[in-house]
Amino acid sequence: MADAPTLDAAVDAIRSAAPEAAPRVGLVLGSGLGAVADAVIDPVDVPYDIIPGFPRPGVSSHAGLLRLGALGGASVAVLQGRAHVYEGHPLADVVRPVRALARLGCSTVILTNAAGSLRPEVGPGQLMAITDHINWSGINPLIGPNDDGLGQRFIDMSAAYDSELRARLHAAAEAEGLPLAEGVYLWYPGPSFETPAEIRAFRVLGADAVGMSTVPETIALRHMGVRVVGLSGITNLAAGMVAGSALDHAETMTQGTAMAEDLTRLLSRFLADNADVF
Ligand code: HPA
Repeated sequence: MADAPTLDAAVDAIRSAAPEAAPRVGLVLGSGLGAVADAVIDPVDVPYDIIPGFPRPGVSSHAGLLRLGALGGASVAVLQGRAHVYEGHPLADVVRPVRALARLGCSTVILTNAAGSLRPEVGPGQLMAITDHINWSGINPLIGPNDDGLGQRFIDMSAAYDSELRARLHAAAEAEGLPLAEGVYLWYPGPSFETPAEIRAFRVLGADAVGMSTVPETIALRHMGVRVVGLSGITNLAAGMVAGSALDHAETMTQGTAMAEDLTRLLSRFLADNADVF
């Protein structure tokens, strides 16, 4: 694949900027959730600007910084901000940062996002472990010539979100006294929010939450054999579920920010309790 030299260059740039770092767990922070990175100990920051092929996140809440350090005693690499397809980035660019995490040594990547809930009982402020996804976009980051050095042409997606790690995540949530829902995440590329009719259709399809990210990264990581944990921070009930209310990005940000503290507790506990796994 033509992309291989760019990925190599990105990994080289990160290694030069942080030669001591040996991350085992990657973490991608979604909208409003960037404050989780504040809990990282002994941080070394590498701005996306100096990493070849790392797209600059256009959403104001996304810092555009890779932070290396320790969280819950684990060696982590935290992507503070992601690029989205709705910003016009090609999928190869969108997934390059997580591919770089894998190449740096992360055998597990935790993908977080802000999402709308399709279930009235799982409302704003709740965390949801992703059990599976629906790719509603019709596009896929693996379209194009396959890079056999990264993974196989046809990859299994029947257990994309690691069930053993998810069980451990539930145990960590219980230990912290944090409610943790679970469900299926549907990728809606945006940037317009869904219509109420689409939300009704997605419910019939089996979706529990909807959002504009994560799925391309999961596919690219599974291609490379990386274990994936997915976590949605529910910022709102999906379109049409609350009579008379409209969706906006400001609500996503406010609710996301409010959840960052719970997410930090959950992830710190999860990493601390499973040091032997990573
Ligand atoms: N839809 C899509 N993406 C989102 C939503 C939503 O309702 N909330 C936060 N991100």
